[in-house]
Amino acid sequence: MEKKVLIIFGTRPEAIKMAPLVKEFKKDKSFNTKVCVTAQHREMLDQVLDFFEIKPDYDLNLMKPGQNLYGLTAAIITGLQPVLEDFQPDFVCVHGDTTTTMGSSIAAFYSGAKVCHIEAGLRTYNKKSPFPEEINRTITGHIADYHFAPTQTSFDNLEKEGIASKNILITGNTVIDALFESVSKVDTIEDPEIKKLKEELDFTKRIILVTGHRRENHGQGFINICNALKEIGESVENIQIIYPVHLNPKVQKPVYDILGKQDNIKLIAPLAYPAFVWLMNKCELVITDSGGVQEEAPSLGKPVLVMRDTTERPEAVDAGTVILVGTNTKKIVDEALGLMKDKKRYKLMSKLHNPYGDGKASIRIVKFIKNLV
Ligand code: UD1
Ligand code: UDP
Repeated sequence: MEKKVLIIFGTRPEAIKMAPLVKEFKKDKSFNTKVCVTAQHREMLDQVLDFFEIKPDYDLNLMKPGQNLYGLTAAIITGLQPVLEDFQPDFVCVHGDTTTTMGSSIAAFYSGAKVCHIEAGLRTYNKKSPFPEEINRTITGHIADYHFAPTQTSFDNLEKEGIASKNILITGNTVIDALFESVSKVDTIEDPEIKKLKEELDFTKRIILVTGHRRENHGQGFINICNALKEIGESVENIQIIYPVHLNPKVQKPVYDILGKQDNIKLIAPLAYPAFVWLMNKCELVITDSGGVQEEAPSLGKPVLVMRDTTERPEAVDAGTVILVGTNTKKIVDEALGLMKDKKRYKLMSKLHNPYGDGKASIRIVKFIKNLV
């Protein structure tokens, strides 16, 4: 008898990383697969749904401007009850470490479904960094029945925490599945955003691509980051800093206040995934606090400065393609300028490196779940 799978996600990065899995499950007719979005994000989620042509079967439409963790968590758990009671899935797949991940895994556990955690086992062992993600993924890791770990390090973390190894599979990260699929498309598709970037950006200049949104960086952290970008922009000739600004008002305000009028810094709206991948491929350096971008950029041979003090993704740091710079203005400026000026060092850091997968993570996940049935 066909088994029912419910794939739940809510934010931009979860959608990007779940899209290949949705496709893989839907190809297999031994599963009845449905998608539920909490819409913890709205516009940024819809950009991804459009590109990957995913039409959710359930949409909780939860996002509220300036939402907080208390209300969001409660709304996810109560919002999922009717969905779980209606569809009665055998398996629920959740991804990563957002509030959607944590709330959905609790609700799925209450429903009696088997919980499958994709991108399992990432840890900093610092509950304040990243906040609240470290605790979200730890809770989900202890609720989940099956754990899909992207790397050996994440597998080891789960084993250390007492998870039986027979329930953990090392798969690579589905972010690479999505990246490989998209990289091959972006140079050939007619994409209006890419067309606009080609018209508006000066590709004779040296391009630095920036993203940032982490909660622990809100406040002084973002002020430091913006001051650093301002200084970098003023210190290097022929530079263009492109920053698609996350829609969180706690990010928008300092970024537009401090950088809104800088000549060589271009603040733009969040890009849809294909245009972002295209731009990442074209830039010289990435400065970010994002989890996903930290995984994608090394696979494209782009050096990354990560504006965090800790990372749950040590693999690229160990390989030398990622440097942690925190939110210290001087450190960000020194590392960025050092790399822009020292060709030898730049070359060493921009070696193509791909510790996060081979593009077949989703195939492995579906095969594993199929063998359980
Ligand atoms: C969330 C996740 C974080 C993830 C990030 C990816 C939590 C607690 N945080 O952080 O783990 O790394 O997404 O980007 O789960 N907004 C919009 N439109 C959108 C998206 C956001 O306007 O499409 C604004 C809204 O005002 C919203 C606010 O951003 O209330 C914050 O969104 P939220 O999902 O709570 O936090 P993020 O900082 O996006
Ligand atoms: N991304 C995007 N458009 C942008 C910036 C990022 O599509 O303007 C993609 C990026 O390629 C990566 C993901 O969004 O796959 C990362 O999302 P984010 O940084 O918001 O979250 P995190 O990965 O830190 O949870």
